[in-house]
Amino acid sequence: IAAATSSSPLLGFSAVAASTADTFVVPNGYQAERLISWGDPLFSNVAEFINGGGNSATDQLGQFGDNNDGMSFFPIDENTALLAVNNEYCNYELMFEHLGKQMTALDVQKAQAAQGVSVLTLKKNAKGWQFEKDGQYNRRIHANTPMAISGPAKGHALLKTAADPKGERVLGTFNNCANGLTPWGTYLTCEENFNGYFGSTASTTVTPAQTRYGIGLKDAGWQWHQFDERFDLAKHPNECHRFGWVVEIDPNDPTSTPIKRTALGRFKHENAELVIDKSGHVVVYLGDDERGEHIYRFVSRDKYSPDDAAANRHLLDEGTLYVARFNGGENKDGELAGDGEWLPLIFGEHGLTPENGFTSQAEVLIHARLAATQVGATTMDRPEWVAAHPTEPMVFCTLTNNKNRGVADNQALNGPNPTAENHYGQIVRWQPTSGEHTDDTFNWDLFLLAGNPTIHQDTLYAGSANINADNMFNSPDGIGFDKAGRLWIQTDGNYSNEGDFAGQGNNQMLCADPTTGEVRRFLTGPIACEITGLAFTPDQKTLFVGVQHPGEDLAGSHFPLGGSHTPRSSVMVITRQDGGIIGT
Ligand code: FEO
Ligand code: CA
Ligand code: CA
Ligand code: CA
Repeated sequence: IAAATSSSPLLGFSAVAASTADTFVVPNGYQAERLISWGDPLFSNVAEFINGGGNSATDQLGQFGDNNDGMSFFPIDENTALLAVNNEYCNYELMFEHLGKQMTALDVQKAQAAQGVSVLTLKKNAKGWQFEKDGQYNRRIHANTPMAISGPAKGHALLKTAADPKGERVLGTFNNCANGLTPWGTYLTCEENFNGYFGSTASTTVTPAQTRYGIGLKDAGWQWHQFDERFDLAKHPNECHRFGWVVEIDPNDPTSTPIKRTALGRFKHENAELVIDKSGHVVVYLGDDERGEHIYRFVSRDKYSPDDAAANRHLLDEGTLYVARFNGGENKDGELAGDGEWLPLIFGEHGLTPENGFTSQAEVLIHARLAATQVGATTMDRPEWVAAHPTEPMVFCTLTNNKNRGVADNQALNGPNPTAENHYGQIVRWQPTSGEHTDDTFNWDLFLLAGNPTIHQDTLYAGSANINADNMFNSPDGIGFDKAGRLWIQTDGNYSNEGDFAGQGNNQMLCADPTTGEVRRFLTGPIACEITGLAFTPDQKTLFVGVQHPGEDLAGSHFPLGGSHTPRSSVMVITRQDGGIIGT
């Protein structure tokens, strides 16, 4: 891991100090405006947000969704663009006057309306990029929006339900965590903790595969199954197999039907980092955010055609899903590094056979986690976002934390996951052996280990050499590169500012130079938020950043409007006062 002693040529802004204030702080010379917040109407015939939870389910269907997460910017022309934004989940304690303690069928409908994706029309004027109410691309996609199922698992018995006996149409998407962007102009939204919305009103059989995905008789407290029988395992045992996918959306056409792409596997998806390999194949890197789960890669069968939009439409339906095995550990120089390989998840190969419970390629994809275990994938510390360098064959993945590492039976310390009871997280980096994203082998090292060098010395908890008292943080999560190759890092960690986390303050966004290893804090968020979601304009002069769940658990935030306002997840727009490129 590179120690950062010299000043990076890539990082041109002055560092922001750690903060516990209820504000959004950007570097000197920068400014931040609010683009949109949870509950803002997308259309003029929709009610405005009401503090304290007074809006109806019908209102929410036409309002910006809750808990904005991953997002992508799509330029249309010089002064018009659209922003597709994920809405991950809800904070019932902020959404309902009863704090979620007296849920009704209408309340569940409101929660279902608040998740999915919001597509926003943006216009640029003298004040910069603004949201346009009634804009032609404005759209809400939610937990009841009709969608198609495509790819190898389409029509499989495990996807068939009473409402959809063919297993090829499904209602909705929810718990939309992070995202992806295709060069053919579509948006990828990734379904993460879908399991928590399913429960059972009666005793029923839960399969071992469902258990592996965290699906059981008890839900995570969302109570959907009590008011919408689609989510009741006793009545509809297959509905839960229809979530946990990557969904492709054409945001340019508000009437388009989203498509669940089953070739990318079913797990708790974080983001979908898509690159076109030199060969023309589409490569998608995918994390499965759970303690001890895995990192995946999809390689398309067919090649991307820059001039043939129709041919690209179904590139994500045919191809091979792989899972990563990391070998090695501490080398002779004391560095954590090694090699690794991508193990294909192909029915009939490497034990993915009927005697081990796999009867088709569809089943391998629906139960991708079980297939990954069967082929010997490495258990990781909660893989979150993956980011590929824009010009170098180099890929990064945040491993956010893992309290079970070294404690749970199946999670012994291993190469890229070296820390027992890991509560700070790390970022692993790999390079394909020959420099092609389609290579089946790679070399890896750790780009950084987060830690707290003021509390801990001489242990891994102090963090790697590029972590110091001025830039320390915990739980890296969202990451992405800008065009110049700066690595932007967002955190979803412990914001207590106490004990092991003393001095780290609220969640934040940092910027790193992948060559020198230097890490510098770029912004800090308000109380009890996560910073997640980032999108640059093509000129790199505007950066959209998400503030998610400020004031969760009634922690006392009133962001963004202050006073006694209900705290609301928001998308922020960051520019430089001199109009320059962000980060330089
Ligand atoms: Fe939705 Fe793993 O973060
Ligand atoms: Ca995340
Ligand atoms: Ca996280
Ligand atoms: Ca989150």
